[in-house]
Amino acid sequence: MIMKGVYTMKSLVIYYSLEGNTRFVAETIANEMGADLLVLKPKEDIPSKGFMRYLKGGKQVVLKKKPELLPLDKDPAAYDVIYIGSPVWAGSFAASVNAFFSAISLKNKRIALFCCHRGGLGSIFKNFSKNLEGNEIIGELECKEPVKTEENIKRIKAWIDTLNTRG
Ligand SMILES: Cc1cc2nc3c(=O)[nH]c(=O)nc-3n(C[C@H](O)[C@H](O)[C@H](O)COP(=O)(O)O)c2cc1C
Repeated sequence: MIMKGVYTMKSLVIYYSLEGNTRFVAETIANEMGADLLVLKPKEDIPSKGFMRYLKGGKQVVLKKKPELLPLDKDPAAYDVIYIGSPVWAGSFAASVNAFFSAISLKNKRIALFCCHRGGLGSIFKNFSKNLEGNEIIGELECKEPVKTEENIKRIKAWIDTLNTRG
């Protein structure tokens, strides 16, 4: 069988998730692509429940905080295609993704972006792109809650196929 596009390239899915939605999308992509996963985990995270998470997480984003991450167990430099996902926090990506961007410089990669949100996308894709200059952004996928649905799995797979045709 002749395979083309992103399916033949070595792929890595990098993500942060506080409440599990972005993890669900990341794992769906990784299963579909046979990709490796790299989870961004801060040494100390904000609470995953309760109103305080909005204040603490929002403050981290506004102040451009870079929480210390646990060691990364994959080297992004070894991959051709990189998927990067985050929940939308205060209209941007989560602070752990900011920490990742300041620690690792990605260049000359094909990058597909995804995020989970509740209806307010804000500037997340613009901010992702600003941090990824020197790479080719091959696609963007937003997933509004509820994320963990059969319909959404179909959407995610269809999105991957649009990336494939550009391969
Ligand atoms: C600190 C914080 C800020 C958030 N800011 C936004 C926002 O600006 N717009 C939005 O639509 N949802 C916002 N949300 C909701 C999350 O984006 C949404 O629940 C997402 O599905 C969570 O993904 P996760 O389960 O991977 O953590 C925020 C959630 C948190 C915890």
